[in-house]
Amino acid sequence: MGGRNLTFRLLYGLGFTPWDGHALARSLTDLIEGGTLTPGKALDLGCGTGDNAIYLAEHGWHVTGVDYVAKPLAKARRKATGKTVEFVKADVTQLSSEGVGDGFDLVIDSGCLHGMSAGDREKYVREVSAVTSAEARLLIVAVVPGSSSGVRGIEPAEIERRFAPEWTILASGDEPTLDRDGTNPARHYLLARAGGPSSLR
Ligand SMILES: C[S@@+](CC[C@H](N)C(=O)[O-])C[C@H]1O[C@@H](n2cnc3c(N)ncnc32)[C@H](O)[C@@H]1O
Repeated sequence: MGGRNLTFRLLYGLGFTPWDGHALARSLTDLIEGGTLTPGKALDLGCGTGDNAIYLAEHGWHVTGVDYVAKPLAKARRKATGKTVEFVKADVTQLSSEGVGDGFDLVIDSGCLHGMSAGDREKYVREVSAVTSAEARLLIVAVVPGSSSGVRGIEPAEIERRFAPEWTILASGDEPTLDRDGTNPARHYLLARAGGPSSLR
């Protein structure tokens, strides 16, 4: 993995992690508690200290949380004692070669893709497609470009372009839950594997 995770290792090392402990995204709780999905295997990309992964486990999902920094994973494991969640140190651009598993029915991403480079975003799409089931759902929460946090962000049109044709956007919208002071507008995107049963869309 080399120095690819240097920025996040430094931030976690310094304890400068303003995202940590944020409220769960409304799009996530709506999806999980809305009754449209049957719990199965879930993957949390860039899981940090694990709050989203633990939430999924508490709602019956068998969860794998992935992050490429060891420090938040250690904290996540402590918080998740007794829950059906496993935390794995891996790079989301190399999921299929880093022993994360496959056949995931649900993938969630709260703040991972939006900070990645263009090249890594391309690998991300390939790898997420490689480890998901034919009927999988993918929920991405990401800031839009220009947020005060300095995060690169991602435009809705880029999500659509990058994930086609393997994935179709089912729904998207504002995600005000994550914008604590009104300067980091975020959006959510719910995608489905193209070719999955149309009755589920
Ligand atoms: C902004 S934090 C969000 C953490 C958590 N998902 C949350 O909602 O609080 C982004 C996380 O993604 C991780 N991350 C970024 N790029 C990654 C990559 N290529 N592979 C694995 N983890 C990555 C970082 O280490 C960090 O923990």
